Amino acid sequence: MPLVPGRQILMEALKGGYGVGAFNVNNMEQIQSIMAAAKETRSPVFIQASRGALKYSNLNYLRHLMLAAVELNPEIPLAMHLDHGNGLDSAKTAVELGFTSVMIDGSLKEDGKTPTTYEENVDVTRKVVEYCHARGVSVEGEIGTLGGIEDGVGSGQIHLTDPDQAIRFIAETGVDYLALAIGTSHGAYKFKVAPKLAMDIVQKVRARAKDTPLVMHGSSTVPADLRDEINRYGGKMPNAMGVPISAIQEGIRNGVAKINIDTDGRMAITAAIRKVFAEEPSKFDPREYLTPAREAHAKIVAERMREFGAAGHAQDYKPMTLEENKAYYQSKK
Ligand code: G3H
Ligand code: 13P
Ligand code: ZN
Repeated sequence: MPLVPGRQILMEALKGGYGVGAFNVNNMEQIQSIMAAAKETRSPVFIQASRGALKYSNLNYLRHLMLAAVELNPEIPLAMHLDHGNGLDSAKTAVELGFTSVMIDGSLKEDGKTPTTYEENVDVTRKVVEYCHARGVSVEGEIGTLGGIEDGVGSGQIHLTDPDQAIRFIAETGVDYLALAIGTSHGAYKFKVAPKLAMDIVQKVRARAKDTPLVMHGSSTVPADLRDEINRYGGKMPNAMGVPISAIQEGIRNGVAKINIDTDGRMAITAAIRKVFAEEPSKFDPREYLTPAREAHAKIVAERMREFGAAGHAQDYKPMTLEENKAYYQSKK
């Protein structure tokens, strides 16, 4: 199966009433574990790279790893996605690398920190949609801003999505799917007490935009057992707390089709590596700690695929090519 346009994967998810996990990657082991989980659970999947990931991997390493993932897993519908693109240039880079889905996070300026006006967001998102759709690539936009700052990405402030503005934004930009700010944030320190997400925003947008899959960022659950394991083996993540799975499942029932997970994977990998280092300090062959790390990552990704209801849906449909997706966009003009 070639890489599939993100739009097809998410429209199928919306139709089937399940959510597709979008997991962040930076290296070979993360791609391998996500694909192992997708294969085991027979799930469609998004593999996503942030601008930081593209920089870390020198672009081409990631491109060839992604091609290997496609070659080795022909039965899995897989979209390669740019996470938090910050302008037309980052979208162009992703399309040139062969990505089939691009996020333009026009809720923030190019610095990835300063919130934009609604008009600025529409302007940059439109340009990215025009460029990507002409090449059959799907586009995710964002309206409202998440809290939390991870490695310099994020404004640090939460501006919950205004549902009326979200509906206007979809009509004015032509985005394929839309990320909403409903009270989640990136990273491991999302909440101090059990959270209450603004699910009414999801419901209100869904009621008027039935054909637009919605996206939840900052969706890591930050499992207490992984946090405790990291701390037991010398880490320091005392107050880490995330989004309960039940809240994500409620989102899926209300039209969320793409769920972004990075932190949970990072924690699974870190806990496994720390355990080897603490219990077997004589080990120095990277394979001896990266193998358990890869297994721990695959385990949590497979769990999420089952919890989101994606498991078993890999063979539901014939994958579309980018050319076919391009023809779809042209037919809508
Ligand atoms: O949205 C943020 C993702 O977790 C990616 O994080 O920019 O550190 O790669 P990163
Ligand atoms: P987490 O930090 O909750 O994993 O969120 C990741 C994300 O939203 C990537 O875009
Ligand atoms: Zn995000």
